[in-house]
Amino acid sequence: MDFELTNEQTQQRDMYRRFAEEEVKPLAAEMDESEKLNMELVGKLHKQGLMSIPYPAGIGGAGEGYLSYALCVEELSAADASTGITVSVHTSLACSCIDGFGTPEQREKWLRPLLSDGKTGCFGLTEPNAGSDASGQKTSAVIDGDSYVINGAKIFTTNAEFADTFVVFAMTDKSQGTKGISAFVVDKGTPGLTVGKSIKRMGIRAASNCEVAYDNVRVPVENRLGKEGEGFKIAMKALDAGRIGVAAQCVGIAQGALNEALKYAKEREQFGKRITSFQNTQFAAADMQTLIDAARLMTWRAAVAKDSGQNYSAMAAMAKLYASKVANDVTRVAVQMMGGYGYTREYPVERMHRDAKITEIYEGTSEVMKMVIAGSMKVF
Ligand code: CAA
Repeated sequence: MDFELTNEQTQQRDMYRRFAEEEVKPLAAEMDESEKLNMELVGKLHKQGLMSIPYPAGIGGAGEGYLSYALCVEELSAADASTGITVSVHTSLACSCIDGFGTPEQREKWLRPLLSDGKTGCFGLTEPNAGSDASGQKTSAVIDGDSYVINGAKIFTTNAEFADTFVVFAMTDKSQGTKGISAFVVDKGTPGLTVGKSIKRMGIRAASNCEVAYDNVRVPVENRLGKEGEGFKIAMKALDAGRIGVAAQCVGIAQGALNEALKYAKEREQFGKRITSFQNTQFAAADMQTLIDAARLMTWRAAVAKDSGQNYSAMAAMAKLYASKVANDVTRVAVQMMGGYGYTREYPVERMHRDAKITEIYEGTSEVMKMVIAGSMKVF
């Protein structure tokens, strides 16, 4: 067992950190205020290869593993969690469905441009009445000759405003429950596909998160991923991978908040002393760093398990469950450590505290994580 990054992984992490410091951090506050992602930044993420990390070079990916991808999402999220989720949804939700279930033709048509031609993907599973209960889909896809006709509405689709490629789930046979769901790829601009405005949120305000309407959207049969009825499995597998991304996002948010709080604490004097000289501050910082390191190790364990072909579903759920709690706890203490200033928008920790909350909700709530973990225990 080796808990160290290799030299190559360390260099990759340093490169991701440099990109986050130079390209993301300076934009974070403004993107949060304006509730808009900077599209030049999205372009740079593509150009730098940060939207293709865990995919094979043969199809346009960077040919690195999920550990490298987790390091990247952590570093981006330490600067800005909205940027972290943008990369994460594209990579581990949208691209992974096409990579895992696409035919060679489908991979050439949609995956290659997502990995090497600046195209961005999104993932439409959640509906107004089907969140945790992902099997309660109402969106339907009815076969009509050589096409399917998709009707329904999705909500909270991250990246939808600027996505080129929509991976969407729809019922092809309502009588079959989870076995009646199928997965489709829909191109931006297909008649009947309408992206609504980004939904106003408490945190990750710069990320694009929209309602998407499918009104008689006709797609050729060749746009179906996997077999008819395989959609639920495709979605669940993507979410397993996505949860590694969210866990890494949590580690980044927490480490970013601790770093900012300590930077402030080193300068701040109260009662005639630097506040870092108080044991109270040192103990709080020690607790926070311990929680973050534990969350990071759990995230790395899930990523390494995925890279080595193990069943990592429960490990990813544990990492997300734990890391999302850590992100919330650490950001709350970071605000507290900075007192009134921590609560202002002059410093980034209030944004990080708001951003942390969603990690206990999206890509499966903490309660869903516990269902996945309990389901793997073979006791109940
Ligand atoms: N991999 C492969 N197959 C899986 C699987 C996995 N991880 N999990 C379940 N399955 C299979 C099961 O084996 C089962 O197949 P069989 O019938 O052949 O045995 C089938 O799927 C049904 O499984 P369950 O009975 O466990 O399904 P369920 O209806 O009880 O649901 C659940 C379980 C864990 C609660 C699931 O519905 C779930 O994960 N819900 C949360 C959904 C979610 O995370 N939504 C967020 C979407 S994306 C988002 O957040 C927006 C964004 O853009 C960021």
